[in-house]
Amino acid sequence: MAAREKDADFQLSSASRRSFLGLSAAASAAIALRIVTEPMLARAGGREFPKDGIRIDANENPLGPSTAAREAVAAILPQGGRYSFWLTGDLEKTLAETEGLKAEQIRVYPGSSEPLHHTVAAFTSPQRSYVTADPGYEAGMFAANVIGAKVVKVPLTKTYAHDVRAMLAAAPDAGVFYVCTPNNPTGTLTSHSDIEYLLENKPKDSVVLVDEAYIHFADAVSVMDLVKAGKDVILLRTFSKLYGMAGLRCGAVFARPDLLEKIENYGGGNPMPVTALVATMASLKDAQLVPERKRINANVRGQVFAWLDRNGYSYIPSESNCFMLDTKRPAKAAIDAMAKQNVFIGRIWPVWPTYARITIGTAPEMEQFQTAWQKVMTGAVTASVGGVPGWGELGPRRRNLDGIVIRS
Ligand SMILES: Cc1ncc(COP(=O)(O)O)c(C=O)c1O
Repeated sequence: MAAREKDADFQLSSASRRSFLGLSAAASAAIALRIVTEPMLARAGGREFPKDGIRIDANENPLGPSTAAREAVAAILPQGGRYSFWLTGDLEKTLAETEGLKAEQIRVYPGSSEPLHHTVAAFTSPQRSYVTADPGYEAGMFAANVIGAKVVKVPLTKTYAHDVRAMLAAAPDAGVFYVCTPNNPTGTLTSHSDIEYLLENKPKDSVVLVDEAYIHFADAVSVMDLVKAGKDVILLRTFSKLYGMAGLRCGAVFARPDLLEKIENYGGGNPMPVTALVATMASLKDAQLVPERKRINANVRGQVFAWLDRNGYSYIPSESNCFMLDTKRPAKAAIDAMAKQNVFIGRIWPVWPTYARITIGTAPEMEQFQTAWQKVMTGAVTASVGGVPGWGELGPRRRNLDGIVIRS
């Protein structure tokens, strides 16, 4: 390892060379492109939590990094003084081997939020729209807004899949079709065949951006084969969800090299945290990690759904680590009444104003959720909107998204 490290001092990996040489006119737009992330959305409005609060609001994984990942992080710390670009190259190679791709079809980032925004920046414009599901994950809409692209929001189907036919019909000028499967916030799937249909019928020069942030929780078919086949598809994955590394920051984008080059015009190549790289590598080597965590999440989720069924509460069945729960009132009132009981649930999508998103926590956390929910639904605990812990004074770390207007 010492020899490799020494090598790396003098020899930049392909990733770093790309970043140093790849600056273009697009870079100026990148400077204005603020990266909007799930925790910023979940905690917009200055929401701060007590340390002992049950935090099931931001689709985090309460299990955190795997044991092997923790050990790898501890072991790399003495080398934390170096950039170690070669580790990024190593991870790209490992991912290539795992997925049956070439390393030049993969880029690693500190989470998938950056490549998501950069893809939208690269393929939308004031003339090329951004098409997304409603309700859907909002981050890409913020990027489209910076670019001046129109945002076209298309309702989900009756089975809560992306309505690919309606998406195509709604935007003949599309630059990006964003498909999040399992969807955030509903945890529902869009089929491989529907994504293929989208690819076959989309306007020329547009791309389909498939976000598989939550796919490890679900029995779903990935579109990795469509990347392999060289289609106009850009696939995002993150290690923030099932892998429990949201705070360590690692994600990846998979696509044809010419598409990746366009995305990289907007940024990337900044040295990755070495802790994230080795934790990811260690996690990928653990063959039991995905099936085990998938099973744990599915068990807890199943118990929560069974309890909701027994008590007659309405929700949308999900395949992921989050689901939408009908509060039967303006959802903010229920969110605040839960916060009063130290249980912090997720946010509201304007298209479904009575629903709130719930993240699956640990079994004991979800028992606390159930106890608190019962009290909200029976009227034993109520809250006047805004007057509860968690919605307090705007702290110094407030991320104000209020001023951002989405052109739709
Ligand atoms: C659908 C979706 N995509 C992408 C991300 C990006 O996560 P990260 O930047 O932590 O990889 C998230 C985070 O919650 C998400 O929900």
